[in-house]
Amino acid sequence: MREINSKYDFSKDAVLLIDKGQHKIYWVGTTTTKAFRSNIYLIKDRNEGIIIDCGSRAEFKETIARIKQVIPLSYIKKIFANHQDPDVTAAMVDWLDINPNIEIIASPNTNTLIQHYMANGIKYNYYNTESNPTLTLDSGAILEFIPSPFMHSPGAVAIYDVSTKTLFSGDIWATISLEWKLILEDDFNEHQEYMDYFHKSYISSNKAVRNFLINFKDREVQHIMPQHGSVMIGENVKNAFHYLKHLKCGLDYFKEISDEELDFI
Ligand SMILES: [Fe+2]
Ligand SMILES: [Fe+2]
Repeated sequence: MREINSKYDFSKDAVLLIDKGQHKIYWVGTTTTKAFRSNIYLIKDRNEGIIIDCGSRAEFKETIARIKQVIPLSYIKKIFANHQDPDVTAAMVDWLDINPNIEIIASPNTNTLIQHYMANGIKYNYYNTESNPTLTLDSGAILEFIPSPFMHSPGAVAIYDVSTKTLFSGDIWATISLEWKLILEDDFNEHQEYMDYFHKSYISSNKAVRNFLINFKDREVQHIMPQHGSVMIGENVKNAFHYLKHLKCGLDYFKEISDEELDFI
């Protein structure tokens, strides 16, 4: 997979990441020089397209130009939202303009907030990941929705694609950096520094992290596809799990305030 870094023109190409015949995963993200560059992924399953975290409105045209290289826009039937942040989700307004029948997949918490992007009265089809935690696609491929509360949003949900052993992790394993490579190579230590910038301030605590990690006791992950930063494969998947296990972040840096200190209340 590393050859992908030199094989494509990232300024315009849709990038084929995984090819399992009727079930393919593409990167159709953005190459803006903003530090919060969005990775947008497209699952093409038979004749159905599912967008994972559709990205910003400002980059909508760039995204559709990439998707058109893979499938007609009318084949896009579903859009998944890990959480409601504008870099993850705002362009769904534009997608619903093109096709009001697109189904929006999200947790109930995220769905409540997404509605604030819509002009008054706009309704859309909603798929609730809490009441329907697995989705079977046309080819038989299964997507499992794995809640990752407080990483960073309360209603955040990751996707585990069972047949390809791929984890779409949203902001988990995100980086803040102007440097960027789609597939991480042998530079995990440097990458860790970029992940620290994000995780220490956005991810709520190591307790939240471990409650997420426990979901992978019996699920093998071969590819991590985050919403910012690099796709991780092979040894770097192991490094990434190890990184999170020991991560100190968010509330872990807060000091304890005793009852005595608060005796004015
Ligand atoms: Fe976010
Ligand atoms: Fe994000």
